[in-house]
Amino acid sequence: MEAALETTKDISRPRLVELRDIGKQYGGTVPTTALAGVNLNISYGEFVAIVGESGSGKSTLLNIIGMLDTPTSGSYAFDGHPTETMTPSEIAYHRAADIGFIFQAFHLIPSRSALDNVAMAGMYNGIPLRTRQKHAEEALEKLGLAKKAAAFPQDLSGGEKQRVAIARAICNNPKLILCDEPTGNLDSQRSLSIMHIFDELHTEGMTLIMVTHNEKQTVFADRVVRTRDGILSEVEDSQV
Ligand SMILES: Nc1ncnc2c1ncn2[C@@H]1O[C@H](COP(=O)(O)OP(=O)(O)O)[C@@H](O)[C@H]1O
Ligand SMILES: [Mg+2]
Repeated sequence: MEAALETTKDISRPRLVELRDIGKQYGGTVPTTALAGVNLNISYGEFVAIVGESGSGKSTLLNIIGMLDTPTSGSYAFDGHPTETMTPSEIAYHRAADIGFIFQAFHLIPSRSALDNVAMAGMYNGIPLRTRQKHAEEALEKLGLAKKAAAFPQDLSGGEKQRVAIARAICNNPKLILCDEPTGNLDSQRSLSIMHIFDELHTEGMTLIMVTHNEKQTVFADRVVRTRDGILSEVEDSQV
């Protein structure tokens, strides 16, 4: 097995994500190998960008890391716990308590206010409503959206919607934030302001993994990995 991708400066930090020889096959009329032989270690506090052509396996990889999907081969340990032996309720717990997701399409509930959308985080792992609301208010405040707490998604700009989604992702202080093309629906100015938010979270010590089409955004990351036909490689600084 090849050595897992890892930078020497991270060796002293505890590992949060450890992928070993991960493969993902999709069946169906045209069987697809979405990932093959992926080895990747990510330590606490790292900001890792994943780049690659459309269809190269970026979302599949992120969904496996986020336990939304399972690999067909290989092993994955999250925060030192092998995911293969987790029960469905343990997986659901880690997904709700430890991982915040941010997607290109925001995925806000249209019939709920910004505050309610954020406060829904943690609902599935038993955090009491009052605590969730308090965390949601604090998260919206941090994202500069305190005045929009009562607004519904239809009354928010794209950039504001994504900030609500970020507030929802960080609200219960997860161990890991996963972002799948988070600025794909935003203009360049709003995209940059979202990147500055990620940069600030990273400075505060958050671990982030971001899939992006925009190679300029990789300057914010500590490391860049590239997927090509389901195979992962580390990108050296000069190649970005
Ligand atoms: N649910 C699925 N069923 C079948 N094939 C899929 C499914 N999801 C993704 N794929 C295939 O797996 C490959 C990788 O997809 P994906 O991870 O979404 O790539 P990316 O995010 O880099 O665009 C593609 O060939 C895609 O068509
Ligand atoms: Mg994708």
